Amino acid sequence: MSEHALYVFDAYGTLLDVHSAVARHRALVGAEADRLSDIWRTKQLEYTWTRSLMGAYRDFWALTEEALDFAAARCGGISAEAREKLLSAYETLDAFADVAPTLAALKARGAKLVILSNGTPAMLDSAVRSAGLGDLLDPSISVADVGVFKTDARVYERVGARYGVAPQAVSFQSSNRWDIAGATKFGFRTVWINRAKAPDEYRDLPPAAVLDGLAGLLTL
Ligand code: LAC
Repeated sequence: MSEHALYVFDAYGTLLDVHSAVARHRALVGAEADRLSDIWRTKQLEYTWTRSLMGAYRDFWALTEEALDFAAARCGGISAEAREKLLSAYETLDAFADVAPTLAALKARGAKLVILSNGTPAMLDSAVRSAGLGDLLDPSISVADVGVFKTDARVYERVGARYGVAPQAVSFQSSNRWDIAGATKFGFRTVWINRAKAPDEYRDLPPAAVLDGLAGLLTL
């Protein structure tokens, strides 16, 4: 993989465990905690796609709050304390266990590592810092500069705009199959990190490789 010395990572779901916020406050959220966490993530993503299509951008933090409020209402409501704690946890999500060692090993080989995410710069700074990944990663690239979300090509274009590289020189990693489809369409060499062992989709836009975790990047 030395010919792909620029590794670009999706953040939420790929490096950061989006379900770790609810996991930390399961007792406070109650019996529907897992359902709430699933609806929270699903709605958050839906809002990115609909707002991109409408041309009505609101930043990812606002959509995260809006999605939590919908999920909570769907699941019978949560207390103001739970809402505050869940949102605060979302700013300091857990990184998956394979993230720091894999990024450190790639960096030791001389690779450049960067996040390309829907998240706001503030969300990404906070998450990278709290997960202890700050020394391994270049400054994150956020969609906030573009005012549209993935899978709009203008988002993936930000990588070339910063690093001056052709799309095919970029190794792009995401756990989100729809993000892999968008990045493949754009021209990146894509690696689907299929942590959830999900069935394949977007078959006309396949990844170059499929891994069950990040560590497999070291053997590609
Ligand atoms: C991101 C979302 C899509 O980090 O997971 O861009």
